[in-house]
Amino acid sequence: MCGARFLQTRMYQKGVTCQDCHEPHTAKLRVEGNALCARCHDATQYDSQQHHFHKLGTSGAQCVECHMPAQNYMVVDARRDHGIRLRVRILSQTLGSPNACTQCHAEKQPKWARRR
Ligand code: HEC
Ligand code: HEC
Ligand code: HEC
Ligand code: HEC
Repeated sequence: MCGARFLQTRMYQKGVTCQDCHEPHTAKLRVEGNALCARCHDATQYDSQQHHFHKLGTSGAQCVECHMPAQNYMVVDARRDHGIRLRVRILSQTLGSPNACTQCHAEKQPKWARRR
């Protein structure tokens, strides 16, 4: 469950709640796109090519694409991962499992992603 996974993150430990991103009753996002994250994380630092290597506004520059990659839970539908940490760190090079970079750069090996 996404909620349970969020409880294990540093954001939760530092007091970030579901309501910081979602409207309380409808669960709708408060803001769409990177602006949701930029409410707390400095956009000049994080929404930059130094940080994410991509032209601003492209799919590769979306915070959630790397930090909350959509996953299939029980093959019902794609839900955003609420673990909010990096696949890059937990991927297995030997098994070649997907991670934040290779989900889009399929031709690249995890080793390439790690070097970044
Ligand atoms: C840092 C921001 C953030 C926080 C905190 C957060 N969420 Fe989310 N949540 C998102 C984003 C982004 C999506 C993806 C929405 C989309 O893809 O349209 C999402 C999607 C969801 C969805 C819809 C899943 C789906 O795809 O149908 C649910 C349910 C949800 N969150 C519940 C929670 C709960 C419960 C908490 C607290 C334990 C929480 N969220 C905390 C950002 C957040
Ligand atoms: C309400 C404020 C708030 C919002 C909104 C928010 N964050 Fe955070 N985030 C935090 C805080 C506080 C921390 C913990 C910083 C620390 O430990 O020094 C954090 C930490 C993080 C970390 C580091 C986590 C780790 O364990 O290494 C990442 C990655 C992150 N946030 C991504 C995001 C993304 C992506 C979004 C948008 C979907 C987002 N944040 C939205 C407040 C927020
Ligand atoms: C293309 C992938 C990618 C995108 C897009 C991306 N990041 Fe990151 N982010 C990373 C990587 C890789 C790291 C780990 C850097 C490291 O550990 O040195 C990271 C680390 C972080 C951290 C933790 C820094 C710390 O001190 O622990 C935060 C916070 C964060 N990103 C926020 C964001 C926000 C906000 C956005 C959107 C504006 C964003 N990121 C977009 C790849 C991405
Ligand atoms: C959501 C999909 C997506 C994700 C996730 C993603 N990228 Fe990309 N990336 C792209 C697309 C599309 C392009 C080509 C268009 C462009 O330049 O923006 C690209 C281009 C690049 C380029 C410039 C061209 C090249 O091959 O040298 C670099 C570097 C790059 N990505 C690195 C990364 C790294 C490192 C990660 C993981 C931390 C990552 N990308 C994650 C979609 C993505």
